[in-house]
Amino acid sequence: MPAAPLHLRNGGVSLVLAPDPWGIPEVIHWGRAVSEHEADGLVATALSAIMNSSWDQPRSFSITASRFHGWSGTPALGVRTKLGVPVLLTRTHQAETTDSGSRASITIRDDGEQAEVIFHYDLAPSGILSAWVEVRATGVDVLEVTAARLVMPLPLRAGEILDFSGGWAGERRPQRRAVADGTWRRATHRGRPGHDAAYVSAVGTPGFGFRHGEVWAAHLAWSGNQEYFIERLPEGAGTHTGVLGIGEVLEPGEISLAPGETYRSPTALFAWSDHGLDGLSAHFHEWVRATPAYPRSPRPLLLNTWEAAYFDHDPAHLHRLADLAATIGVERFVLDDGWFEGRRHDQAGLGDWYVDTTVWPDGLRPLSDHVHSVGMQLGLWFEPEMANPDSNLVRAHPDWLLAEDPRLAFRHQFALDLAVPAAYVYILERISTIVEEVRVDFIKWDHNRDVYAGLSRTTGHPRSHDNVRLLYQLMDELRTRFPHLEIESCASGGGRIDLGITQHVQRVWASDTNDPVERQNIQLWTGLLLPPELIGSHVGMSEAHTTHRVTALSFRLITALFGHAGIEWDITRCAEDEITQLARWAALYKELRPLLHSGVTVRSDWVDKGALLHGVVSPDGRHALFAWVRLETSGTLHTSRVALPGLDPSRYYRVRVREEVGEASRHEVSDPPWFAGLGRHGVVLPGSLLGNEGVPLPLLNPANALLLELQAL
Ligand code: GLA
Repeated sequence: MPAAPLHLRNGGVSLVLAPDPWGIPEVIHWGRAVSEHEADGLVATALSAIMNSSWDQPRSFSITASRFHGWSGTPALGVRTKLGVPVLLTRTHQAETTDSGSRASITIRDDGEQAEVIFHYDLAPSGILSAWVEVRATGVDVLEVTAARLVMPLPLRAGEILDFSGGWAGERRPQRRAVADGTWRRATHRGRPGHDAAYVSAVGTPGFGFRHGEVWAAHLAWSGNQEYFIERLPEGAGTHTGVLGIGEVLEPGEISLAPGETYRSPTALFAWSDHGLDGLSAHFHEWVRATPAYPRSPRPLLLNTWEAAYFDHDPAHLHRLADLAATIGVERFVLDDGWFEGRRHDQAGLGDWYVDTTVWPDGLRPLSDHVHSVGMQLGLWFEPEMANPDSNLVRAHPDWLLAEDPRLAFRHQFALDLAVPAAYVYILERISTIVEEVRVDFIKWDHNRDVYAGLSRTTGHPRSHDNVRLLYQLMDELRTRFPHLEIESCASGGGRIDLGITQHVQRVWASDTNDPVERQNIQLWTGLLLPPELIGSHVGMSEAHTTHRVTALSFRLITALFGHAGIEWDITRCAEDEITQLARWAALYKELRPLLHSGVTVRSDWVDKGALLHGVVSPDGRHALFAWVRLETSGTLHTSRVALPGLDPSRYYRVRVREEVGEASRHEVSDPPWFAGLGRHGVVLPGSLLGNEGVPLPLLNPANALLLELQAL
């Protein structure tokens, strides 16, 4: 370790590392960008007192978070020999920064030269810190890796935790609690992040909200087993108070390294913001938008056939649906589950990726040609990693499945082991053939079960890690073969949404619920991590299939607008006025998507219970769209001022209401006069007033929303 601290600085954030008393680097500071003088000052003041009943030297907290250096909390590393003897990684070998101070790597070894661990830190212009660990077996023994976590220190003021839980059709339910002594650990062993994924673990100054408070957050860019924890020991962590840790959950026997082999951990992403959750989103969205897999073409309006037809594939009906979709302005027609052999219900056929000629006697090419001839792309549903026992695939190759207790069927299906070479090749070749022969532009890639104990049938070892890596490889090979192909990540709705998969797909399916009341919150919180253009959001029929709640079309349309929009509804049964409204909405989506899909996401803290105010502001602050949403009746019977966040206070804005998709139903005798006076031409108001004091907005009935558009003069 050099005498000077390692100081990474980028995107308004600094990470400062310096050796602790044991010579292992510790994170001295992660947060606001500091000057070199400040960094030196932080290092000069980095040691705490020697406490009563404690070590005879100041406590510290190194990046290895090691028991051997006096840390009694969760360690960062678990590296053992085959006999179970821990490898003591205690010797810093090398530490350096590169790329004008935005990257650092720190190599740590053991005295016996059995292992080498490299911690990597990369601070992007978005302010997102990527960190990962490599563990290499450098001796003559096989080593087992049981943990490779990234653990960052937190200051005393980081006193409140926000993370997420949820279930099918109810993803990303926020939960908050105070930081206390002990460990708040969220772990998933589902083989995917799951509907209850912690998603983002954020710790902030108590009461932090969308627009205020200082927040430190972590997310694992990984689609398999994972853990997040916030931990506080009475003795603190050096001069810090608590820690925020993250890593892949590794089962015993999962990662064995032969001499010369390396385990690379998934990448942990750390974000810091001093203006609340909107600040975190701004960092995450900027980071995602700079990744190579991020889609750079306008997000096509799509129609998905699932809730329109389910397994009832009648080619004549689906042709009619496609025709009508094209007239409305749909740009991508997605044929969901049910097109392949034996798939007349969800209990059979999965894995047999051949077109079912009993329902599609001429194959899918006629549908595809028709869809393309009316100017749309074609999408097709696959669930490549799974198979039903009742399938030709499993009858012929039961050994391709991961070993699981047969009673653990889940939606009547089991997972394949992609590490079986023949299974991997079969999937790659079947999808490639269909994509080529049918001319597929888009795959909805589903994953409809948890995989708790996916063991290899040949070695008996857990295969979760390998299967996630092979999934990414499979998607990448397909996109190399078919560069135009786009992929959506679906897992019974939003069970596999993370920034690992977004480096291989162009869309995620946020939830199986198209009920707009549920969707408003699911999209709001999914948007903490992902920008709207990656989040699939569909208009369903008036009675939602998941909740049987009936809602107004205008509310469903406004809800679906704030994402990568689509329709999931048998529109051949729609009344004429519904078709007209859908067509108007399609035009509105196309008009507004340049703003919606490139802007800054903003959300208000100051609305009464049961209401939401969210929007998107263009990066130059000239154009904005807000949704004023009411989910429940209001507890207050008046219309206080509502501030519109994210505007440029130095500009004047023309405020207009966009009611092409229908008027919101009101819970009042008349609108506030200024609002009633908006008319076609709108009203001009200063951005400083709109953003600070705000304006009174109509009191809406529940399950209603209205759209406000603001253009700078
Ligand atoms: C999952 C998906 C749905 C649909 C069905 C098809 O549940 O989340 O959108 O594709 O599978 O079986």
